[in-house]
Amino acid sequence: MKISAMTAIAAVLFSVPGLVSADADDDQLVINGEIEMTTKTEPPAHLDGALPEIISGWHFRADETQALQMDDFDNSGMIFVDEGRAQWNEVAGSEGKSCASCHEDPSSMEGVRATYPKWDEDAGEVQTVAMQINDCRENNMGAEPYGYTSTEMANMEALIALQSRGMPVDVAIDGPVRETWEEGKEIYYTRFGQLELSCANCHEQNYGNRIRSDHLSQGQINGFPVYRMKNAKLNTVHARFKGCVRDTRAETFKPGSDEFVALELYVASRGNGLSVEGPSVRN
Ligand code: HEC
Ligand code: HEC
Repeated sequence: MKISAMTAIAAVLFSVPGLVSADADDDQLVINGEIEMTTKTEPPAHLDGALPEIISGWHFRADETQALQMDDFDNSGMIFVDEGRAQWNEVAGSEGKSCASCHEDPSSMEGVRATYPKWDEDAGEVQTVAMQINDCRENNMGAEPYGYTSTEMANMEALIALQSRGMPVDVAIDGPVRETWEEGKEIYYTRFGQLELSCANCHEQNYGNRIRSDHLSQGQINGFPVYRMKNAKLNTVHARFKGCVRDTRAETFKPGSDEFVALELYVASRGNGLSVEGPSVRN
């Protein structure tokens, strides 16, 4: 007998019989008492009614966790931003250069997080921020690339994300990226693993419900990289994707793979209009 996705979720994963609903709350995310974030807004047209509203993962966290993201002194992700800043100024590689040699202050990265992944004309492919960072390390610095989900990469991504904090996510889905975007969309709706669950089964059809001891969000990535209390470090988008695919008991794609790059582009576009929040805080 083939069980439906909903039965699979309910039977295997939900901690309590029936679906206990606890919708997104109505709290307001204002950082440091001054940066007002858009954490709920109209869905982008391409979602075609699949979601009535797009909602940041922040709304699904407990009040204590939410509070940690409201003040930079309480946001542990900021410690890693400082490490990213040190890396930014560090000379590495055969060319004797640092990021600062060419890009000066990190503030030159304003707007970058909001528009990636995006098309890179020279490479002829969609690039994520992580790919662009490694492109610069390898080709502009003569340095070793960072591991795709390494601490160094997450630190640098956090520093770069911070420069766009509060700006609306605005990822292009037309033109040369279209094919990759379609691939990402297909992956999003494909059921994986023994549980035969797609991203959509959990994050589109069941957000607001409780799963194990967790509260399901829409799986948005506007808050990445994310500081998680669970592992006390910054977590990258592809590391999170990997964890979610594993939870369906499937073989997962590799971080940095074409599949995860396409998925990142698609998932990012589902959040078009939400504020860039990185580095955010989650349980
Ligand atoms: C030798 C000069 C040079 C160095 C050193 C360098 N970059 Fe770059 N970087 C560039 C150039 C030129 C571009 C734009 C062309 C391109 O996309 O490659 C760029 C583009 C970027 C972009 C994309 C910006 C955008 O608007 O889309 C990011 C992000 C970036 N660099 C990060 C870094 C980081 C992080 C470092 C240090 C680890 C670094 N770069 C080191 C020259 C450099
Ligand atoms: C079995 C249910 C399930 C499936 C299937 C699933 N996830 Fe998740 N996902 C979770 C849970 C639980 C969390 C942690 C709570 C939350 O933020 O939703 C999570 C968190 C996330 C987050 C972090 C959101 C944030 O704001 O911190 C992202 C991004 C994400 N998932 C993306 C995906 C993608 C992409 C897929 C498909 C490859 C997927 N998930 C499949 C259960 C699932």
